[in-house]
Amino acid sequence: MAADTKASQATDLGKVPGLKTRNIGPVILLGPPGAGKGTQAKVMVARYGIPQISTGDLLRENRARGTELGKKAATLMDQGQLVPDDLVCAMVAARLAEQDCARGFILDGFPRTVAQAEWLDNFLAGKSGANAQPVAGTEKSAVPAAGWPPLVVVSIVVEYNQLWRRLTGRRMCPVDGTIYNIYFQPPRVPDTCDICGSKLMTRKDDSEEVISKRLKEYENQTLSLVPYYRQTGRLHEIDGDRSVEEVTAEVLRAVEHDRL
Ligand code: AP5
Repeated sequence: MAADTKASQATDLGKVPGLKTRNIGPVILLGPPGAGKGTQAKVMVARYGIPQISTGDLLRENRARGTELGKKAATLMDQGQLVPDDLVCAMVAARLAEQDCARGFILDGFPRTVAQAEWLDNFLAGKSGANAQPVAGTEKSAVPAAGWPPLVVVSIVVEYNQLWRRLTGRRMCPVDGTIYNIYFQPPRVPDTCDICGSKLMTRKDDSEEVISKRLKEYENQTLSLVPYYRQTGRLHEIDGDRSVEEVTAEVLRAVEHDRL
């Protein structure tokens, strides 16, 4: 079967058997703040049954629990700056050691620097962070017998002004994490989650001043990951300036082209 035919069939939702038992392996969603990484990761979680590992969410959880890591990260996050590589990598190692990562995982917002990408390469090759213990104190994840399959890296490309509108318009449900946008994906009742009825919130770092800093930080520190992964031949670059459904189709096509 031609690769394109196979891919388009694979992205026809509901027509690929066994997606929730297959080894999907590590998937990276790369893109600037507001590109839609979190939005797309949630679709993939539902489709593949593997976890979304958002370093932003993990850091926010640490903040909410008042951990040492959360305290160290708080000021940097509020200023739109990156949290130091060693802290983030240790946090990711502990999360990846959890049992639910055994068939694969979706990294959302990690890596964000070349140092983090190199650490991840070593981690997946069993050379770094291999002794990390699961955060939740659960049974440790077993690395697949044949090792992890190669990374699938999907870069979502979105134009600057569109990113700005997406970030200033974003609203989140604090209870179930559903993402809305007052311009593009409004809730049925203003400021209220469609799913659980909770009052929606605006993320603290979605103020205009911090958005501007986050976008600069992306250009200065994260954009260099595009050539880093392009030279491995594992990068899929996707036009994210389209509807959520159109972007989803492209993201799934990329993953399933490489994996199925
Ligand atoms: P993090 O939480 O990762 O934020 P981010 O990377 O800035 O990304 P966002 O969550 O803002 O955007 P997204 O791409 O997920 O977009 P979303 O789907 O929500 O990081 C926060 C902070 O933590 C960082 O600044 C840093 O301090 C720290 N940190 C995190 N990871 C780190 C790391 N690895 N190293 C160091 N520090 C780290 O969508 C955005 C909006 O657009 C939504 O309203 C959505 O509804 C809408 N939307 C999505 N897709 C579409 C579409 N196709 N059309 C129209 N609207 C759309």
